[in-house]
Amino acid sequence: MLKGKNVLLAITGSIAAYKSAYIVREFIKKGANIKVVMSESSTDFITPITLSTLSKNPVIKDFVKDKNSGEWNNHVDLGIWADVMLVAPATAHTISKLSNGEADSFMLATYLSARCPVFVAPAMDLDMYKHASTKKNLLILKENGVSIIEPDSGELASGLEGKGRLKEPEDIVNHIYDYFLDKATLKKNKIIITAGPTHEMIDPVRYIGNNSSGKMGFALAEEAQKRGAEVVLITGPVGLETPYGVKRIDIISAEDMLKAIKKEYSQANVLVMSAAVADYQPITFSDKKLKKKNEEMSIELKKTPDILRTLAKLKKKQLVIGFALETNDEKNNAYQKMKNKNLDAIVLNSLNDKGAGFGYDTNKITLLTPNKELEFDLKSKMDVAADIMNFIEECI
Ligand SMILES: Cc1cc2nc3c(=O)[nH]c(=O)nc-3n(C[C@H](O)[C@H](O)[C@H](O)COP(=O)(O)O)c2cc1C
Repeated sequence: MLKGKNVLLAITGSIAAYKSAYIVREFIKKGANIKVVMSESSTDFITPITLSTLSKNPVIKDFVKDKNSGEWNNHVDLGIWADVMLVAPATAHTISKLSNGEADSFMLATYLSARCPVFVAPAMDLDMYKHASTKKNLLILKENGVSIIEPDSGELASGLEGKGRLKEPEDIVNHIYDYFLDKATLKKNKIIITAGPTHEMIDPVRYIGNNSSGKMGFALAEEAQKRGAEVVLITGPVGLETPYGVKRIDIISAEDMLKAIKKEYSQANVLVMSAAVADYQPITFSDKKLKKKNEEMSIELKKTPDILRTLAKLKKKQLVIGFALETNDEKNNAYQKMKNKNLDAIVLNSLNDKGAGFGYDTNKITLLTPNKELEFDLKSKMDVAADIMNFIEECI
């Protein structure tokens, strides 16, 4: 659940600050990316160098990086980067500032910029924790949607006994793990996503291909993985990085793609065919590079295997969604494809829509099913992927 998640850890000036090193280690062990921000006073308790080493990222404390050059740290970007923010340990002082929306430090401004869920793990002496002001401030934070990871009771640094001990690092990380597990709307689903073009080889150096960049399929894989699905991404030749936690299978031709899907298909419950699979392939493959000879030449082609039709015969429980990229009579063509190939739904994008289709970072889609049509605005491919996954969630 924490694999590939961006965790922002804010450390404040409590005697329990040393435990934040263990929190960082727990997150790293669980595959999260972690960045640390520190309050001024927390550096009296634990050094930034310890935390930057463990987190593998520079630690940030101040707005200004270098007074001479005017270089500064961007609290807004960092807030948006985070999938989750954790303040641990959280002092009474910081809890008060957070509840009042104060922003006189980098850490506090980052909290206000964060769009993600925020967790606060208080650590303080029992009387500080019991104090009416602390109670009121924690209540305000809860009302603002912040989750409080309640401290434990036990022996405190002051020598007193009571409630105020920072929860153990493992328990804090498990608390956040459970939060994501709860939110993982696609857990226990295995989703196959195809992406990119196929290359149908003519000789060892030439092929018939198309302009598909693979971006839409990769965005779908990333979104499905974030929602807890087991994702297999079967992709033609593209220059894209594999999304975290996704099993990637590289293929070249339509035949390879069919073979790869068949291997995974029986255990999957969703197949999304966003790849631009070639319709034709050369009848013969020349194992030597073809030489330039006559003024004209022709290559004989035959149909590639019809992946969706082949799979339709093997279909049991699977929800199968195809893609159609059309240039004219778009809806009719898409409806026809959905019917012919026994699809549950089809995602239509038209090359007539500006910013849609191959290569762009945006897309504009219409989702067609046998009994409804859902039109969406032009959006980033990540947002389009979220719309498609919402639809898949509804269906399953
Ligand atoms: C040795 C020592 C331990 C402290 N431990 C705590 C603590 O556990 N919890 C707390 O709320 N304040 C504690 N304080 C007080 C905070 O360090 C102080 O309120 C500080 O201003 C907090 O600043 P910050 O919240 O910006 O990090 C401690 C102070 C000292 C000197």
